[in-house]
This record gives sequence, C-alpha cells and structure tokens, in this order.
Amino acid sequence: MPLTTTTQWPKLEGLAATFSDLDLRDLFAADANRANRLTLPLGDLVIDLSKNLLTTEILNELVGLASQVGLVECIAAMLRGERINTTENRAVLHTALRAAAGTAIELSDDCGATTDVVSELHRLRARMTRFCEQVRDGLWLGVSGKPIKTVINIGIGGSDLGPAMAYEALAAFRHPRLRCRFVSNVDSADLLSALAGLDPATTLFIVASKSFTTAETLMNAGTARRWLTQNLGEQAVAQHFVAVSAAPSKVAEFGIETANCFEMWDWVGGRYSLASAIGLSLMLAIGPPRFEEMLSGMRLVDEHFATAPLARNVPVIAGLTALWYRTFCDLPTRAVLPYAHALQRFPAYLQQLEMESNGKTVRSNGVLVDFHTAPIVWGAAGTNAQHSFHQMLHQGTTIVPVDFIVFANPDFAGLPDFANPGQVDLLGGAEMPNSHHEALVANCLAQGQALAFGKTSHEVAATGTDPALIPHRTFKGNRPSTTILAKRLTPSVLGQLIAFYEHQTFTQGMVWGINSFDQWGVELGKSLATEILAELRSSTLATPGHDPSTNALISHYRRLSDRRLG
Ligand code: F6P
Repeated sequence: MPLTTTTQWPKLEGLAATFSDLDLRDLFAADANRANRLTLPLGDLVIDLSKNLLTTEILNELVGLASQVGLVECIAAMLRGERINTTENRAVLHTALRAAAGTAIELSDDCGATTDVVSELHRLRARMTRFCEQVRDGLWLGVSGKPIKTVINIGIGGSDLGPAMAYEALAAFRHPRLRCRFVSNVDSADLLSALAGLDPATTLFIVASKSFTTAETLMNAGTARRWLTQNLGEQAVAQHFVAVSAAPSKVAEFGIETANCFEMWDWVGGRYSLASAIGLSLMLAIGPPRFEEMLSGMRLVDEHFATAPLARNVPVIAGLTALWYRTFCDLPTRAVLPYAHALQRFPAYLQQLEMESNGKTVRSNGVLVDFHTAPIVWGAAGTNAQHSFHQMLHQGTTIVPVDFIVFANPDFAGLPDFANPGQVDLLGGAEMPNSHHEALVANCLAQGQALAFGKTSHEVAATGTDPALIPHRTFKGNRPSTTILAKRLTPSVLGQLIAFYEHQTFTQGMVWGINSFDQWGVELGKSLATEILAELRSSTLATPGHDPSTNALISHYRRLSDRRLG
C-alpha cells in the first residue's frame, strides 16, 4: 500500500503541521521518565532517542504507518532471499553473509537450480581465512621470496568505503607488520601516493570489484599491474595480485588466476558488502577471528531486526525517526558525528549506504513519489567538527538532526593485546592519559545538551551579558539528536553499528516504497564520461555533440591541457 493512502499519513501530516510547537524542554518537563523510556538497548549499544522531537503519539503513528505499508512482510521477504531488487531481478542477502553456519537460505536460479547460500559462504570464508593466515604469518611469499608487508585494496564505492572505514575504525586490532592502503579515485594522485615508498617485492594488490567493469578500478589495477611487472616481471602477478569479484571470467582476462579470485554474488549489493570477500583487506589487517567477531555483531542486530515487533524494533524506530524528519517535517539533511577519531570515515560510508540506497524519486512500481526521500547525510568526527560547522548546527536557520556516536573507553586502552610491540610504539611507550578520553566524551554530551536545551535570553541576561550581545549569545535549542553509546569500539560493536544503519536504511526505503538496492542514477554520468574521454583525446573532432557549456569546456580543456592531442 502506498504510504500516502494509509490512515496514518494524514495524521502524521497534521502532527507535522504543529512540529514547531514541539519543545524538548516541555517534553522532558512533562515526563520525568522520558530519558529512560526512550533509551533503547540494542546488543552492546545504548541508543538514547529521548532528545528527538517525538511524542508517543507520533511514534505510534509512525509504527502504524510502517505496519500498514507491510514493513514486516518486506523484512521477511528480504531475509528469505526473495528478489526484492526488482529492477535488477536480484535477491538482497547481505544478512546471509553473517548468518550462522547451518542457517537454511536457499536461492533458485532461473533454471530452477538451488544453492545453499550459507554453506557456500562458509566455504568461501574458510578460503579467505587460509589466505589471510598465510599472509599474516609471512608464509605467502612474493615472487622474490619476501613476505608481504603492504596490501593495497583497489576498488571504489562499496568495494572501498566499507573496508577503508573499518580498517581505520579497528586500528587498535591491526596486525603489527601488515599495513593496508586503499586506492579508489581515478585521479592518479591516489594511486601514486599509495605506491610511494613501497617495495613491489613486499606489496600485494587486491582488485575488489563485484562487476569487474568499473572504469576507475580497472584503470588503477592496470597501472598498478604495470608498476609491479616493470619492477618484477610478468610472472610476479600470480603472487602479488588477488581479486574479489562476481565475474571470475573477467578477472581471468585481466590476468589474475582463478585460484586467486575470491567470489562474490549478484545478491550482495556493493554498499552492503563489507561482510563478504570485499572485506578481505580488513580480514588481513585484523585477522580472521576478529573479522568473525564483526560478523557476530552484525548477526546480533540482524536477529533483533528479524524478530522484534515493530514498536520495539530499534533500527525500525530509528529509521522511522529519520523518515519523520525528512518526509513530514521537511528537514533536508542529517548529520552523523562520531566522537571517535577512528570512526572519521564512518559518515562517508553512510553517505553511500543511505544516499545510493534511498536517493530516488521513483517508487518500485515506476510511479513518481510525491514526498521527500533520502536526506543528505553528512558529518565529521568530533571534536574537530565543533570548530568547523557546529556554529550552524546551534544557531543556523536549518534544523539538522544529529546522531552522536561515542564510546565509554578509548580504542587502545585495556585491550588484551595492548602490550604488543606495535601498539606500545604508537604511544612512544607511554600510557595515554584518560583525560583525553574524558574530554572527548564530555564534549559529545555537552553538544547534545546544548543542541536540545540551548540557553534562553533570560538565562543569558542573568549572567550580566551586555544587552546588545544577548541575541547573539542566545541558543534557541530544541535541535534534535540521538546519542549512541557503547563500552568500546570493538569489531563486534562496529558490526552492530553497521547493521543498525543498514536496517534503518531498509526501513525508510520500504516505507517510501522505493527499491533501495539499485543505483541507476549513476549510469548516465558513466556513459557520458566514456564519450567525453574519447573527445578529450581526439584531435580531429572539431565540435563535440554536447550542450554548449560542455562543448566549450571540452574546447578549453584542449587549449589548456599540456598533453599533446592525437
Ligand atoms: O557506480 C556505483 C557502483 O556500482 C556502486 O554501487 C558500487 O559499490 C561501486 O560502483 C563499485 O562497483 P564494483 O564493485 O562493481 O566495481
């Protein structure tokens, strides 16, 4: 059922019309138990939703809306492996990637042949594990007999953002000898800076591309291959290149042996693929047992999402809260602010997850939507962001709902392997004082309080402030935020966070009635770039056939480029 025809739609529109009357000070004053009531546990995460502009009535209507549009059935259909990605006729089974051994999920192909998905995944993971153990133990040798020291993951979008984000996030758990670098941009500066100072004899490349047709990845992989073979000869490719792909024949054409290709399937969307072989670089860095811990964290949230009733389903409630702000209250953006330096790449990861999934104007049935879908997702790590854009969050004219993410303990403290030499060197042999972490947490909590409750003009005046400055020093407050707190950023907690956001994204997409699993919006730019590339290189084509602005820019490029045409 389209959401605009539900009984909840007009009620929620009515409630949104009085949105500006909602006041967090009043909501807290009216309910002494609000903080407690709206703080929801999810695995190891404590999720405080109480500083959101929500009432019980609004929440009930949102849950009713989700129920009427069939969210429960949508969740079940996804988990069963139905082809809910209708425009590509594909199942959507990232949850199977982290399912426990023995879980029954069968997929049928168009000829009726069935695959036991979970068994196949566990066989793949056993291969990944053997490979990672060999590399980590120094037993996978390069062509000149040296162990691998640097792994370069070449991929883009979902084949880069997940592993790159998680590699940073789990820095405290990394192997002391191996380091990973991530190359995604077709701008040669990216590959060049990754290769700088490396010894080809101790470098391993992972070419990560589900389709193995992505132009940027193939160009970077080709250049990396030349860098390697010019130094070590053609025969080096076998020991220095592996691939992750759903297109093994294309991998073979590129020159990577099938034995060195780790499989993917079309039912894993790129932006949902960290738990697949796309996570190979992460598994190399943190080791197979820690990778399994991340999967078990994801599984914990998957099980909750699959079984909890909508009204107590934490990703559903958080997703509906985001949908309330975007669709009913017309708030165009939302910010994610991790107060954890290790999570500084998390906002970029979420941008692809949410905006590539739900940045759509057409419903699954091809009909245009008549409401707003995906907000702009943005953010940066605190406390840096406080000295950049927080001014606008506190006193700007646009209200931005914020997610704060914060941990009770710093990344490196108290880990069982804290004493290993790699870690101690990081701190110059000294213990990091707790004062850093306490200051970080204090700032995070202060921001949430200031956004929600502000400082009235009376409160400012009471401090003896010059009356001319009172309007400038007043904080209206009433700006919504959610705070997500956990004991420490472990692999399991990272897995829980990822699954929490994935299921929020799913919740919103299904309620909007859109297909969250295709990305046709990226295609036009790709095909135009192919045409324009040929035109930039051509010395004979006088007038390219684009719009006047693009034609003129092509001419300017030809005039200004130092590269000789023809
Ligand atoms: O162009 C968008 C996209 O298809 C993303 O959805 C995907 O994550 C990325 O490109 C990379 O794709 P591939 O893994 O096939 O190289």
